[in-house]
Amino acid sequence: MSVGRNSLVAALDIGTTKVCCFVAKPDGQGGSRVVGIGHQVSRGIKAGAVVDFDLAESAVRNAVEAAERMAEERVEQVIVNVTGAQAQAQTVGVEVAIAGHQIGDADLQRVLDQTQAHGAQPERRLLHAVPTDFTIDGNRGIRDPRGMFGANLGVMLNLVSVADGPLRNLELVVQRCHLEVADRVLSAYASGLATLVEDETDLGVTVLDMGGGTTGLSVFYGGSLVFADVIPVGGQHVTNDIARGLATPVAQAERLKTLYGSAIPSPSDEREMLAVPQIGEQGADAVQQVPRSMLVGIIQPRIEETYEMVRERLEASGHARIAGRRLVLTGGASQLTGARELAARVLDKQARTGRPLRLQGLAEATQGPAFATAAGLVAYSLARPFDVVGRTQARAASGRFGRFGRWLKENF
Ligand SMILES: Nc1ncnc2c1ncn2[C@@H]1O[C@H](COP(=O)(O)OP(=O)(O)OP(=O)(O)O)[C@@H](O)[C@H]1O
Ligand SMILES: [Mg+2]
Repeated sequence: MSVGRNSLVAALDIGTTKVCCFVAKPDGQGGSRVVGIGHQVSRGIKAGAVVDFDLAESAVRNAVEAAERMAEERVEQVIVNVTGAQAQAQTVGVEVAIAGHQIGDADLQRVLDQTQAHGAQPERRLLHAVPTDFTIDGNRGIRDPRGMFGANLGVMLNLVSVADGPLRNLELVVQRCHLEVADRVLSAYASGLATLVEDETDLGVTVLDMGGGTTGLSVFYGGSLVFADVIPVGGQHVTNDIARGLATPVAQAERLKTLYGSAIPSPSDEREMLAVPQIGEQGADAVQQVPRSMLVGIIQPRIEETYEMVRERLEASGHARIAGRRLVLTGGASQLTGARELAARVLDKQARTGRPLRLQGLAEATQGPAFATAAGLVAYSLARPFDVVGRTQARAASGRFGRFGRWLKENF
């Protein structure tokens, strides 16, 4: 199989707690249908970054092979997510002189070529460079400058860069599985592409991808990505807090969290008693009765602190205002009872849970918020949002500009 050549798409979400591969085909109506799913407990990944090549390789291999078997297709190229590589986002303006002639395709090409230079930083790699609008002699809000006159043509771009080392480690794991990396997409960006509706991306929305080892953050406005960030705290930290606080094994802490946990207290918590198996104990002493309020008392501060970090990052980004009143929570850890209510309160927004939209063929088990990133990688490949770096870099320059013309047509 080859991504692009026969329209099959293979998306690979390498997460801290799970690795997931979706093989999808176009459904003929502008959407796509998943024909193969492989899903595996993750190993060798910490806070989204590779910490053990052998373990990570075998987890990826197993997930991809399972998806291949179900799809009855061979996967050769994958679109992979990037999480644990210290993402940084910035908006830059790039300008070129046009000396008074009518602006044409060649001028657009020149201004976009400048982008690469702007994004270049030592030890970092540009992951996304999304043009949002053009300027002529400093006047903003021009959607298609071709045919216009002026002295200087500028483009506003949203750049997302990541640390080079963790990205190369991730690529190496994929290559060790004899797969080629067709594209790299920031996880929180992909999760937004899968879960948001058009009105949200137009009017301004914040996406929180609450994973096992990370909480990803992305902001969309005017139809495109404007900001992204990653906080290295996720559901695993909550589980570990519970294990430590209640002196119970991690597997028991995970069970207690998903079955009885909540991010907000309720009046009955004092009365409701939970049986908590104690670490290292056996027999009658092995189980302690603990009020649910104790469990909630461990969970709430951690989640609250994470949301406060999100609020600080948003404020520091300068995008807090355009991020809007709308918040979409996704990722496995967003399923915690009360997570949505607490987020709405701390971030002062209207919150909803985001699940993969517009993707056919997902079984019940893979329709949940934990699969937003994988679904978003498929969405990225289908929607082909114009990205000066992403896919265009890998292809010939001619294809690159042809697509930009189409992108202008489709988006403006
Ligand atoms: N019902 C639930 N209630 C609370 N937490 C849950 C629930 N279901 C799953 N989780 C948590 O979701 C987390 C896993 O989420 P997800 O699968 O999105 O992570 P990941 O993509 O592997 O990690 P990351 O994105 O950080 O690399 C785990 O910490 C798990 O405890
Ligand atoms: Mg994830």
